[in-house]
Order: sequence, then structure tokens, then C-alpha cells
Amino acid sequence: MSAETAIGIHDLSFRTTSLVLNHCELARSNGTDVAKYHKGLGQHAMSVPTADEDIVTMAAAAALPLVQRHGPDRIRTVVLATESSIDQSKAAGVYVHSLLGLPPHVRVVEVKQACYGATAALQFAGGLVHRDPDQQVLVIASDISRYDLDSPGEATQGAAAAAMLVSADPALLELTGPSGLFTADVMDFWRPNYRATALVNGKESVTAYLNAVEGSWRDYRARGGLPLEDFRAFCYHQPYTRLAFKAHRALLETCGARADDDVLQQAVAPTTGYNETVGNSYTASVYLALTAVLENCSDLDGRTLGLFSYGSGSVAEFIATQVRPGYRSHLRADAHREAVGARQPIDYETYRGLRLQNLPTDGSWYELPHQTRGPFRLAALRDHQRIYEAA
Ligand code: COA
Repeated sequence: MSAETAIGIHDLSFRTTSLVLNHCELARSNGTDVAKYHKGLGQHAMSVPTADEDIVTMAAAAALPLVQRHGPDRIRTVVLATESSIDQSKAAGVYVHSLLGLPPHVRVVEVKQACYGATAALQFAGGLVHRDPDQQVLVIASDISRYDLDSPGEATQGAAAAAMLVSADPALLELTGPSGLFTADVMDFWRPNYRATALVNGKESVTAYLNAVEGSWRDYRARGGLPLEDFRAFCYHQPYTRLAFKAHRALLETCGARADDDVLQQAVAPTTGYNETVGNSYTASVYLALTAVLENCSDLDGRTLGLFSYGSGSVAEFIATQVRPGYRSHLRADAHREAVGARQPIDYETYRGLRLQNLPTDGSWYELPHQTRGPFRLAALRDHQRIYEAA
């Protein structure tokens, strides 16, 4: 292929769960001043899965509109990134491949590195398309974040899946320039195989995250990356949205630039709308930020957006993307607003009841109640297998 051929995100779609817990309700139940959630964390609500929703049903729901618009024929690879995997062996993407009716001549794989995995998947996809520009790669980030009940992390939970079609000559965004990379062996957040909830050193995770912002940016610049002033906005991984503003302040200080409120607002505020109400969707979070800025700003033709991806443990990457002229006619803003707006509000007791429900682990036949409003559902468990169906 010619050196000039652009590679990047051709289409982008996200979906979340059918239920939502509002932070006013969470604050009422645990006696917290709701201003801590709204102002201190920048969170207003969290998506909560029904019993028959999981990372597979969300991933398939997010990817379905891409397959419907572009057809399945050019998709040769599916990469699903997740922290909340459902199987130690089988890739969740194989279930998604089946639910979407993709052809058999496809490679499917799962990648993991906490909240960073989807950005690695995007880089794999870019390499595959570079080798064969006729093929498209379906990259899906799908996660349900779960912290211990009554822990500080509980208010930052959430769930979503973002699906991206990576191709040559993309309609939305070109991946450009070098990557800024930063890895540090830290125990800020991790989840041993026997645990359903993450272990987290909250304050340490914030410090590790901010160190990674500086480290990945310095690497990006050392490799010839663009200067700060060339970026229109910055999409940060958003475990809670207030952290994106802190991150940008840290970046501005690293660059010796003024960190005025209006500068922070212009660069970060257009990116936080979905994550404020969906909560932390781990691998999907930074791509919900990207979706938000594309939908919120009408003046992005040819402009550069920064993307900072962070996964505890920790691995981080800073990349620049250039918005393709005419991008707005390819967006899915109405469907995304509908996905978020159609969630059914639940009270704290209902949320807690759902959290305390455990699926059987003895291989017995178990049918799940039909609760999701999405297009796919986990219908049953049988012989230690998960049975999915179109809802
Ligand atoms: N009104 C306004 N702001 C308030 C407030 C109130 N009534 N009460 C507290 N706040 C502010 C605090 O000042 C603090 O702001 P700061 O970060 O600017 O200092 C913020 O709300 C959070 O309060 P804090 O007491 O520090 O929070 P916490 O002990 O509940 O824990 C986390 C916060 C992020 C550590 C916790 O949610 C967590 O562990 N999250 C999961 C891990 C995570 O998301 N890590 C991020 C990097 S990956």
C-alpha cells in the first residue's frame, strides 16, 4: 500500500446496559453528600447490567450497527478487549462472532491489560490493515466495572461496550504519528482470577495514572509527536470524569503551559458527557470520551485529538488522531443518546440485589429471566456453558 494511505477508525458505536443507578439515589442510601459524587468525582449515574446482560451481549449490541451498515464480508479479524472476561480460555469475541453471524474465515482473539487493552487492540488492527488494506478489523472494548460494595470505588462503577471498525481510508479518524508509551510495574488495581471485584489502592492508582500521563507524553514528544497547541481536545481514560481534568492540568504543567479553567474546559469538557452518566467502563471509557467529543464539536474537520489510554498495573499510551473531513455525517449520536436515555432507573435496593446474585457454578441448567432491552441476551447456563440468544 502507498505510504500516504490513511488507516484508522471508519465507524464507531457504543451500547450500555438496560438499567441505571443515579448517584442521588446512591448518596441517599449511604449518607454521602451527593456533591462529592457530582463535583468531587464528576459522576452522576452508573449503568447497571440486568441478570441476562454481560460483556458479550453489550459487545454484540455495540457492534451490530457496524455490521448492518458495512456488511460482514471485509471483516477478517475481531479483537475484543476486556478486563471483565467471562472465561479463562475461550475468547468472548467468539460468542460475538456467532451472534453477529460473521463468516467463518475470521480470526478472533481477546486481549487484556486492565483499561488499556482496547488501545493495544487498535494498534494490532492498524498493523493488520496496513498489511492488507482490503480487510477491516472489528475492535470491541467491553467491560462491567465492579468494586466491593460499600467501598470508595463503588461510586465509580459502570458498564459499556464500544465497537470500532478499523480500515484503510477511514471515515472518522486517522491514527497518526508516533505512540507515546509508558509501563510501570505498580499494584494500583488488579483482580486475581478467583475474585469478581477488583482490588484497588485508590490514591495510588491516581498517582500512577498521573505519572503515566507525564511519562507517555514525554515519550510521544521525544519521538517527534505534535506540540500541545496542535491539539483541539484531549480524550483521557475516565475512571471518573474529574480525573480527566486533573490529568490535563498535569499535562499542561508538564509542558510549562498555563492551566486556566477555560483552557481545561475547552480541551476536556466536550469529552466527559457519556462517562458522567455511564460510569467507568474500563476499556471502553476512553472511546466513549472520543465518541462524545466527535458528537459535541461541529468544527473538527482536519483537527487533531489526543487520546490517553491507561490500564492499571500499569501500561499507558498517548496517540494522536486526525479527524477526517465530513466525519459528522457518519456519526451515530441519536442511537447513543437513545442507548443512554432509555435505561430504566432503579433504586439502591434493586441494584444491591442484582450485585448479590450469583450464577450457579455447578454446571446445572439455569435459565435467566428476560430483563434486557438490548438485542442479545444470556439466556441460560448449561453444563458450564453460557447460552446466548437474540432477545
Ligand atoms: N463536595 C465536593 N467535593 C467533595 C466532597 C463534597 N462534599 N467530598 C469529597 N469531595 C472531593 C474530595 O475533595 C476529592 O477531591 P480531590 O480528588 O480533588 O482531592 C474527591 O471528592 C474524592 O474524594 P476522596 O475522599 O478523595 O475520595 P474517596 O476516598 O472516596 O476515593 C477514589 C476516591 C477515586 C480513590 C475511589 O473512588 C476509588 O478507589 N476509585 C476506583 C479506582 C480509580 O478509579 N482509580 C483512578 C485511576 S485508574
